[in-house]
Amino acid sequence: MEERYMKVCVVGTGYVGLTTGVSLAFLGHQVTCVDLDQQKVDMLNGGRCPIYEPGMDDLLAEAAPNLTFTTSYTDAVPGADVVFVAVQTPSAPDGSPDLRYLRSAAESVAQNLDHSFTVVVNKSTVPIGSGNWVDAILRESFAQRAERPAGCEFSVASNPEFLREGNAIHDTLFPDRIVIGSDNPRSLEVLNQLYRPIINQTFTAPSFSPRPDDIGAVPLVSTDLASAELIKYAANAFLALKISYANEIGQLAAKVGADITEVTRGMGLDQRIGSRFLQAGVGWGGSCFGKDTRALIATAAEYNYSMPIVQAAREVNERQRLIAVERLQDELRILKGRKIGLLGIAFKPNTDDLRDSPSLDIANLLLARGARVRLHDPIAGERFRREQPALAPYLSESLDDLFDDCDAVVLVTEWAQYLELDWSKFVGLMRTPILLDGRHVLDADRMARLGYKYLAIAG
Ligand code: UGA
Repeated sequence: MEERYMKVCVVGTGYVGLTTGVSLAFLGHQVTCVDLDQQKVDMLNGGRCPIYEPGMDDLLAEAAPNLTFTTSYTDAVPGADVVFVAVQTPSAPDGSPDLRYLRSAAESVAQNLDHSFTVVVNKSTVPIGSGNWVDAILRESFAQRAERPAGCEFSVASNPEFLREGNAIHDTLFPDRIVIGSDNPRSLEVLNQLYRPIINQTFTAPSFSPRPDDIGAVPLVSTDLASAELIKYAANAFLALKISYANEIGQLAAKVGADITEVTRGMGLDQRIGSRFLQAGVGWGGSCFGKDTRALIATAAEYNYSMPIVQAAREVNERQRLIAVERLQDELRILKGRKIGLLGIAFKPNTDDLRDSPSLDIANLLLARGARVRLHDPIAGERFRREQPALAPYLSESLDDLFDDCDAVVLVTEWAQYLELDWSKFVGLMRTPILLDGRHVLDADRMARLGYKYLAIAG
């Protein structure tokens, strides 16, 4: 199939929307991104990226000739072959996703459609059935327009996103697969065309994100709407439960005197299991696994169905955060008045995202038990101060401040900076050199040689 460049609109410039827009512009498509936040739009038009994501500034610069940011749907939707909707879908109190932003985006899109055929794509992780729901909103809003352009046709598709924060560009340009759900063959054809350069890997890879040696043609899974929507939830929940399984085995390993790192290595070499997402530790955080497992359970409940495996994965994950605190309590006996330093606030390395970060829960649990907490992060400090005002006074700007007179330090986020730390320098600053490795990433023997009392979550 010959490659053809298209006119694309992306609604929402969060992680998913921004990466989608910038990547498609980098591939040669004409992209306009809409966001209602004027400050964000100004920043992006000035070439500055509002989120911390490795390589995004560079990709933004390379894509600039094909890329515009605006607050106006009228500047973005008319004439688009494809409109991606990538707005946030936060959890409502009962665990179901709050679809307010999705509704209002769909209404605004419908008010501005004027092309002969536009594919409206749900890119956000939306509940199963949302494709039909968005289709109904589009039709309703379109019907209410005073003037309806002749020949305007549209169809809704689902194209779930599988990128990881911190690896967003790599995951978008070199994905394991592309999933497209639609009940309309014409939409499938348009999206197939849009993604041709990725499917065939015909573009020149950016210097800061080289093409992996072993990548071939990227598989395209084209399916119906509901299946595409379920694939996203099923994949995230599976990854979440894989980690929780490693953590559950980790606690048993500690009891029977086994080494969880060896156990997961031995398991992961079985290709049916695979080695990734078996790293035991304080557990998963971020904006996706917690929200998506909750949403899956909420959807099942609507059908009077329960999902005990997914529920168990959530419970094990919550327990891991408590186990970190209990490990410290077992060691120090009394937590009241102790100074505990937490290394890492972001939910994982290479991002400044704090959503559902284990560090925040561990800090709150320790504070509730009377400990004096300090937190440090190489990148997320500023965002932490802004988003977590109640915990902000406990931020340490420097590692000296964190380690000074500390009773125990916990490695919560495995930033490269911490792995490469001059650990020998800091041990002397501590009151008692207890080191809890919350990710099983440090060399226990080396740490012991340096004078630390090394503890692991499972060990
Ligand atoms: C996750 C999925 O990996 C993406 O495929 C998906 O697109 C995304 O959610 C989404 O739905 O938007 P993300 O939340 O960015 O991506 O981060 P991950 O790299 O998956 O890490 C999630 C959490 O699991 C982190 O807290 C990480 O520290 C933890 N983790 C990961 C472990 O505890 N052990 C592991 O072995 C791997």
